[in-house]
Amino acid sequence: MLSRFDFPEGFIFGAATAAYQIEGSAFGGCGSSHWDTYSATPGNVVRGESGARACDHYHQWPADLDLLQAANLDGYRFSTSWARVMPDGVSINPEGVDFYDRLVDGMLARGLKPFQTLYHWEMPSALADKGGWTNRDTCHRFADFSEAITRRLGDRVASIATINEPWCVAWLSHFMGIHAPGLRDIRAAARAMHHILLAHGLAVERLRGMGQPNLGIVLNFDYAQPASDRPEDVQAAARWDGIFNRWFIEAITRQTYPEIVLEGLSPHMPANWQDDMATIGQKLDWLGINYYTRHLHAHDATQPWPHLRDVPGDRPKTQMGWEIYPEGLHHFLTRMAKDYVGDLPLHVTENGMANADLLEDGRVSDQVREDFLFSHLAATKQAIADGANVQGFFYWSLLDNYEWAEGYDKRFGLVHVDYDTLVRTPKSSYHALARALARNDQGTAR
Ligand code: FCB
Repeated sequence: MLSRFDFPEGFIFGAATAAYQIEGSAFGGCGSSHWDTYSATPGNVVRGESGARACDHYHQWPADLDLLQAANLDGYRFSTSWARVMPDGVSINPEGVDFYDRLVDGMLARGLKPFQTLYHWEMPSALADKGGWTNRDTCHRFADFSEAITRRLGDRVASIATINEPWCVAWLSHFMGIHAPGLRDIRAAARAMHHILLAHGLAVERLRGMGQPNLGIVLNFDYAQPASDRPEDVQAAARWDGIFNRWFIEAITRQTYPEIVLEGLSPHMPANWQDDMATIGQKLDWLGINYYTRHLHAHDATQPWPHLRDVPGDRPKTQMGWEIYPEGLHHFLTRMAKDYVGDLPLHVTENGMANADLLEDGRVSDQVREDFLFSHLAATKQAIADGANVQGFFYWSLLDNYEWAEGYDKRFGLVHVDYDTLVRTPKSSYHALARALARNDQGTAR
């Protein structure tokens, strides 16, 4: 069984959450976001559930931070909701900023390093009304938000990520229609694919100008493999790899977009997008990698570009139906180091699984999650041995929480949440991780 001592000294073990998924958007003067309205529209979210109460973390945060500390974790990845900090998208809600101020101090008091994410999807409705990420102006508003919240927290956070998962923000939400704002439109998608990166670049430029250290972005990756050896299926997987895995990292590190994706998106891109590439290609201080699964792809000539059809793989699947495929994490960690970022620090900012966990006699036994977690930690360790400069691993998620379009149906937590009583119960995976991360008597890793 792996332990803390199998990783380099100073390696950060943490857990991750996001504001809308846990806090409760009905509390503390938080403004409406596009997730409040998307979930209020029939057919978008399982049972029409929203994050209005979620895990009530807005009130229960001290106990939640205690759970992180008691698991022997070193860091906590959290997000600061734009709609809470700026309910109308532009002016500050002092109650919201005070909440994050207390939260960050609470982390520091417990010896937890705060890893902040600026955009984990709470687009204020007032800005969604103006087109959200299809509107270039939103990028400038995001830089303003980044500056405002950093003026308050920047002296205490260990690092800042601008955007969580631009692929989800742009493609999943504007092309596939599965997340807010729920569009299925290639022109909107192309704009969002570009503007989300411009927002990142403008925010990095602004924060670096303020002297803020440790700026990064969190990208998600999906291992794209062809469903067969047929050349058209190989090409289909390459298209998915381009849209999902290459678009964002190549824009940031090379200031270009992959040709295989421009083939489909060029006609729909905003005018003069090329002029933004230098802004997008700001130097990073670290890169966050979220990894969950792989997909097999086949060419589908009956569909418009990108002509894709998913084919189910043969590995065991999680409650989300996602194949368990730890080799993919090793693939992306070593691929990022080799092809894109060299020695730049990498963090696994999310990895985890949903499981139909049952609370029985006050306990939750989730051996399957323990196996998942330790197999992905082993893949991370192997990637380090193979030369990737990985400096942290954050399990998704600390708590069972609002899983977006899946509502409260899918449980990703190390800690079970009863959604009637809001009682938290650490699962067996939580206890296994806490044991693996126990420090020696001096409280240090060695
Ligand atoms: C990621 C999201 C996170 C959570 C996990 C399961 O795409 O960043 O909020 O929903 O998936």
